[in-house]
Amino acid sequence: MNILVTGGAGFIGSHTCVELLNAGEEVVVLDNLSNSSEKSLERVKEITGKELKFYKGDILDRDILGKIFAENKIDACIHFAGLKAVGESVQKPWEYYQNNISGTLTLVDVMRQNGCKNIIFSSSATVYGNPAEIPITENCPKGTCTNPYGWTKSMLEQILSDMQKADNEWNVILLRYFNPIGAHKSGHIGENPNGIPNNLMPYITQVAIGKLERLGVFGNDYDTPDGTGVRDYIHVVDLADGHVKALKKIRENAGLCIYNLGTGCGYSVLDIVKNFEEATGVKIPYDIKPRRAGDIATCYSDATKAKEELGWTAKYGIKEMCEDSWRWQSNNPNGYDD
Ligand code: NAD
Ligand code: UFG
Repeated sequence: MNILVTGGAGFIGSHTCVELLNAGEEVVVLDNLSNSSEKSLERVKEITGKELKFYKGDILDRDILGKIFAENKIDACIHFAGLKAVGESVQKPWEYYQNNISGTLTLVDVMRQNGCKNIIFSSSATVYGNPAEIPITENCPKGTCTNPYGWTKSMLEQILSDMQKADNEWNVILLRYFNPIGAHKSGHIGENPNGIPNNLMPYITQVAIGKLERLGVFGNDYDTPDGTGVRDYIHVVDLADGHVKALKKIRENAGLCIYNLGTGCGYSVLDIVKNFEEATGVKIPYDIKPRRAGDIATCYSDATKAKEELGWTAKYGIKEMCEDSWRWQSNNPNGYDD
């Protein structure tokens, strides 16, 4: 298939491009590089020995979208493009709704004008809010989000589902990611956050490399085994493979499908620190800090549905996630600026 990958230069997008090319799919990337570097795509080509087409531009720009559909016969879109910083979304809600919601509305409008009604959408476990059940199955009701970023994911799920209900030529695959970490085994592509990282693993790797002094652990009084927050960390290469497997549902004309992409295992913040230290031999000094606003105690998936329906299951464990995050960070202390 010829796949349009929006946001393909980013963290999850670049890893997905590798897996798509390795699976023999054709890849066209659209990215405005607002949170990424074109170098990631050069490295995708080096890793795979294959070509992809890159358009630098915005999903809000109908002209570039029209040009892409005129110049390529696109069969499906894997839609990663979006702003994703939770804290920033609280400060800049309009920018988040405009970019993520208006951007997606523009994209799907141009898609349908060009007869392409197949989309795989990057959603998030954040749509479950404070989950009604643990482990979280896809039947768990969606919850109240604590920030505009989360609401964009929840609303876009609704919008895409409603479009599919109204026109059953659409195939809409909603993938709810848990916490992606790790990097490609080559150490050539990985997560490259701007400024001080918000997320746990890039913060840990930056402490390990000496850019940051100490990790702050946000709360040790949660109702969890050691009091720190529990999450379902998933290797980004496994997550990328989930997208390749999800194409099966598009080929089958399956309509609307929703899958959790997680491992089904929960690790606390202190479990991650310990596993990182064991996997890398690097010590991570930390301090216990107050809880971070909007955080929940525990979030991990029941990943059975993706296994049964897509034949997908996460292969990598926490040790490899830590080793691979560290290989990327230590080989590229300044990310793609090295
Ligand atoms: P990322 O920031 O590395 O990648 C997103 C890419 O989209 C970037 O390359 C950015 O330049 C591009 N982009 C943003 N707005 C655009 C626009 N208007 N037009 C064109 N390109 C645009 O983030 P990521 O971690 O790879 O996340 C990919 C997707 O997965 C996002 O939609 C994100 O919300 C979602 N997601 C991420 C996580 C996570 O923890 N990383 C968890 C759940 C869901
Ligand atoms: N944490 C710390 N210190 C830090 C950073 C994080 O203790 O410096 C803790 C958090 O409190 C939480 C855990 O580490 O308990 C994980 O935090 P992250 O920020 O890495 O991830 P979240 O679970 O908060 O959120 C991530 C993405 C969201 C996505 C969600 C579910 O950032 O976009 O996973 O998929 F919605």
